[in-house]
Amino acid sequence: MDRLDERLKQAQEAVERVLERLLLRPPIADDAAGGTQRLVSAVRYAALGGGKRLRPFIVLETARLFDRTGDGVARAAAALECVHCYSLVHDDLPAVDDDDIRRGRPTVHKAFDEATAILAGDALLTLAFAILADPSTDADATVRVALVAGLAKAAGIDGMVGGQMLDLAAEGERLGEAAVKRLQAMKTGALFRAAAEAGAILGRASLPERDSLARFGAAFGLAFQLADDLIDATASPATAGKATGKDARRGKATLVALHGVAGARALLAETVAEAEQALVPLGLRAAVL
Ligand code: IPE
Ligand code: IPE
Ligand code: MG
Ligand code: MG
Ligand code: MG
Repeated sequence: MDRLDERLKQAQEAVERVLERLLLRPPIADDAAGGTQRLVSAVRYAALGGGKRLRPFIVLETARLFDRTGDGVARAAAALECVHCYSLVHDDLPAVDDDDIRRGRPTVHKAFDEATAILAGDALLTLAFAILADPSTDADATVRVALVAGLAKAAGIDGMVGGQMLDLAAEGERLGEAAVKRLQAMKTGALFRAAAEAGAILGRASLPERDSLARFGAAFGLAFQLADDLIDATASPATAGKATGKDARRGKATLVALHGVAGARALLAETVAEAEQALVPLGLRAAVL
């Protein structure tokens, strides 16, 4: 296994460990608690046992640049993943992208029901902030507040949720390249950027270092959504673990729709180069990133 594979595996294990511990609920022998148990089951279904855990990987590896490792960093990584998993549950809802398969199995509203999926998403979103606000994430309250503020901004109107709204509004519209990039920077880039900045915050990075990582995260996020859109256009559902060909059917505003597969691949290479360029000031220690 090369170093990147090993670090990805470490990120996956760290997230599973933290979330498994936090989502452990002893069975309650009380009928009134049955609903809560159903909610916990849905939250566990949404958050455990699947996913590449790329946002946690970014948190762990950016914190590692500043020699920060261990449980607190793993908790922050898990918090990012909670927001991401919630975003997927809501993204798949009938009123949003209306998808039946995610991570190779039925989406949460299919495995449970729509109301439970909405509430499981809400529960994951709030859990993320409970994790960050807990002193075991970092002993320094200033650091915790910065993590909370960063994630809140990235997840909200100016970030992921705002981008999802633009994504829906753009269905069937022909947006220009700048507008598509802006939408994608919000719906996907913002969380990656927050992940990279979380590592900088935990690592007490200097402002220039934090700025470099923010630029890296944003470029990585754009590249990632471009890759996701290429997968939708070119891969089989079996490889993707979710339905493909849906962006074109729904008239989603993507760079693939705008420039075709070859054009989008060229833009992807450019965006990856941009992300790599942002890491130059951090030197060789950023090689895994
Ligand atoms: C899918 O994200 C949604 C996008 C932002 C494109 P991922 O591809 O990271 O999903 P998982 O977590 O690995 O399933
Ligand atoms: C989702 O983008 C971005 C989110 C904020 C969840 P997509 O709608 O393209 O993600 P998939 O293809 O369903 O995973
Ligand atoms: Mg979507
Ligand atoms: Mg979707
Ligand atoms: Mg997609």
